[in-house]
Amino acid sequence: MKAVRFQQFGGPEVLEIVDLPDPQPGPGQVRIAVRAAGVNASDWKKRRGLMDEGLPQTLGYEAAGVVDEIGEGVADVAVGDRVFGLSTEGMAQAELAVLSHYAPVPPSLDFAEAAALPAAVETATRALDQLGVGKGSALLVNGASGSVGSAAVQLAVARGARVIGTASPANHEYLRSLGAEPVAYGPGLVERVRALAPGGVDLALDVAGSGVLPELIELAGGAEHVVTLADFGGAQEHGVLFSRGDAGRALYVLGEIGELVETGRFTPPAVRTFPLTEVAEAHRTGEDGHVRGKLVLLVG
Ligand SMILES: NC(=O)c1ccc[n+]([C@@H]2O[C@H](COP(=O)([O-])OP(=O)(O)OC[C@H]3O[C@@H](n4cnc5c(N)ncnc54)[C@H](OP(=O)(O)O)[C@@H]3O)[C@@H](O)[C@H]2O)c1
Repeated sequence: MKAVRFQQFGGPEVLEIVDLPDPQPGPGQVRIAVRAAGVNASDWKKRRGLMDEGLPQTLGYEAAGVVDEIGEGVADVAVGDRVFGLSTEGMAQAELAVLSHYAPVPPSLDFAEAAALPAAVETATRALDQLGVGKGSALLVNGASGSVGSAAVQLAVARGARVIGTASPANHEYLRSLGAEPVAYGPGLVERVRALAPGGVDLALDVAGSGVLPELIELAGGAEHVVTLADFGGAQEHGVLFSRGDAGRALYVLGEIGELVETGRFTPPAVRTFPLTEVAEAHRTGEDGHVRGKLVLLVG
């Protein structure tokens, strides 16, 4: 099968499409003929050598497609079903992918929209659970307009939270449409948030990793009320929890997100699609850092 791989660290030009052996589903896993696979910020962090050390590396943690083989013990889906989910092996940007965690594609979504969801909703749900976001919480999301941030906003609103989100001004109307009160990021953040919430917020989630953990701690009244998904060094320096998937994923949300989508309480991000062969262009677009919505590779 064709798959995205790189054999050396570097710019987008190191990405290549290679032939790899077809993967086989293990117990509890399904294999899909991939129709669409999500692109994530971790892809270019890996490509630049900022995450895993070994080479070569394949890419892709999420995909949607049609089940073409089921592993031992799988009884909840059959060959031919449309599913989306997570590939913990990280080889989903390929013609075939083994999904370790999956759910039926929500009926109103196409494959690209479904492939945009798993990593963002799992990450957002995990962080909201770690913060203890619930009905009546006042939550600040720093970096609210990207794929993880927009999922965190909507899932927090669905829990009954009040959400204030930072984004560049061009995305403020978008944040309002998701149910958040927008503020600009940058100098003066604390004062702008206090203008909306004079007593500060209960909880704060840093999705952007933009070096504002001290401000978030001040607004939320302590480091224990803050979680970051993107500022590893800042988390260590300021005693904030850095949320990472390998310490336990909120996989249950894959089975719940379909109902939120179908009942209009969760709007998937707009997707920007690229053929699998143009994965390097998808990286160039994403590395710009201001994508609204989600980059998705189309396969087949
Ligand atoms: N720890 C984990 O488990 C985990 C899992 C998934 C992702 N992540 C990390 O989470 C981060 C976000 O991922 P993503 O997929 O949501 O990225 P994305 O879709 O590319 O979104 C990036 C967003 O960051 C915003 N932004 C840029 N500069 C900012 C600043 N100075 N202050 C506040 N917001 C700013 C942009 O908003 P504007 O366009 O409005 O400026 C954009 O919407 C990445 O670093 C990724 O590696 C971590």
